[in-house]
Amino acid sequence: MVREWDPLTAPDEEIESLLGTLNAALAADLPEDPPWRNAYLREYLGETMQGERRICWVAQEGTPASPGKLKAQASVLLLGDIGVLDLLVHPDYRRAGVGRSLIGEAARRAYREGFTSVGVEVIGDTPAVPFYESIGFACAYRESRSVLPLSSVDWLALGEMSRGIGAGYRIEYYPGGPPEELIASYARAKAEVRDVEDDPGDLDLRPSSYDPERLRDSIATLHRRGMKPYIVLAIHEKTGEVAGLTEVVVPAQHPSRADQYDTIVVPDHRGYGIDRAIKARMLFELRSAEPQLTEVQTWNALDNAPMLKVNAELGFLPDREWREYDADVADVVARLGAPA
Ligand SMILES: CC(C)(COP(=O)(O)OP(=O)(O)OC[C@H]1O[C@@H](n2cnc3c(N)ncnc32)[C@H](O)[C@@H]1OP(=O)(O)O)[C@@H](O)C(=O)NCCC(=O)NCCS
Repeated sequence: MVREWDPLTAPDEEIESLLGTLNAALAADLPEDPPWRNAYLREYLGETMQGERRICWVAQEGTPASPGKLKAQASVLLLGDIGVLDLLVHPDYRRAGVGRSLIGEAARRAYREGFTSVGVEVIGDTPAVPFYESIGFACAYRESRSVLPLSSVDWLALGEMSRGIGAGYRIEYYPGGPPEELIASYARAKAEVRDVEDDPGDLDLRPSSYDPERLRDSIATLHRRGMKPYIVLAIHEKTGEVAGLTEVVVPAQHPSRADQYDTIVVPDHRGYGIDRAIKARMLFELRSAEPQLTEVQTWNALDNAPMLKVNAELGFLPDREWREYDADVADVVARLGAPA
C-alpha cells in the first residue's frame, strides 16, 4: 500500500514506526552511525524553508482499513529548479520493487510540477548506488565524509591552534546562530565564496543562504527541525566584517554526532590561520555546550586539498564517499512507467 503522507499531521505511531525503519536501514547500510531518536523527527521530516515544499509518500503493511507498519518512505523536496529525492526501504522489504514504486510517485509529481531534473544524495558502497544507476541516474559529484571522534582530539594542540590567529582578528562564538547585527556581513562572506569557488559540479542539493533574508529563514528552519546551530566567527577588527565562519549543527535526532556545515574564509583574509583557529575554537565550545557529543562529521569535495589538510590535522578520519546523482525527470518517468 503506497500513499501520500504528511509527517506534520501523521499519528505518533507512524512516526515511531518510521523511526524503526530508519534505524534498521542505518544498521544495514551505515552500521557505525548512531541510531536516530524520536526527537523532533516529525518536524525534521515536515518543516521546510519558505518557498520550498517537501512531498512525502510511504509504503505501509496492511490495508487502508487496518494499516500496519511503515516499511518505506520517499520524499521530493521542490527546491529552486531541482527536485531533491530521498528514499528509504526497510532491509527486510528490499528487492521487491518498493523503492522503484516510491521513486516513481516522486518523479511523476516532480514532472507534473514542471521540474526538469531530479537529484539525490547517495551514500557510497550502499545498495542505493546500483538502485539509482538501474533507473538511469548518473553520478554528477563526489565528496568524502570524514568523522572526528572527540576522544581522539589532542586538546592541548587544539588550544595552540585556536590561539594561532593573525593579529587584527578576533574570534566570536554564537550558539543558536549569528547575531542580527552580523547577519548582513555573514551573508556577504558566504556569497563571496560562492561566487569565487562554488564547485560547478555540485548540484546544490543542500539549501545555502547567500542573502540576509534567506539566512534568517535558514536558521529559523534549522531550529524548527530540532537542529541547533553553533557558529564561530573570525571578525576583521579594522572593518568589523566577518572574515571567516564555521557552522556546526547538533541535531536532536542524533545528538551524539554533530554535522559540520560550511567553513568559509573570505579570500582577502586567507593565510592568517583563521580556518584552523575557528574550527579548533568550535570544538572547545561544543565540548562544554553539548557534553553528550562524541563525534563530528563533515563532507568535503575530494579536490579541496587545503580543507582536507586542516581536517586531517584536527583528527578527522575519512569515512565514506558521498555522491550526488541526477537525472532528467522525463527520463525517469518514462523508465518507471505508470503506477502499478
Ligand atoms: C536503495 C533502496 C531504496 C532500494 O530499495 P528497494 O525497494 O530494494 O529497490 P527495488 O526493489 O525497487 O530495486 C530496483 C532495482 O534496483 C537495483 N538494486 C536495488 N538494490 C540493489 C542491490 N542491493 N544490489 C544490486 N542492485 C540493486 C536492481 O536493479 C533492482 O531491480 P531487481 O531487483 O529487479 O534486480 C534501499 O536499498 C534502501 O533503502 N537503501 C537505504 C538508503 C539509504 O539512504 N541508507 C542510508 C541511510 S539510512
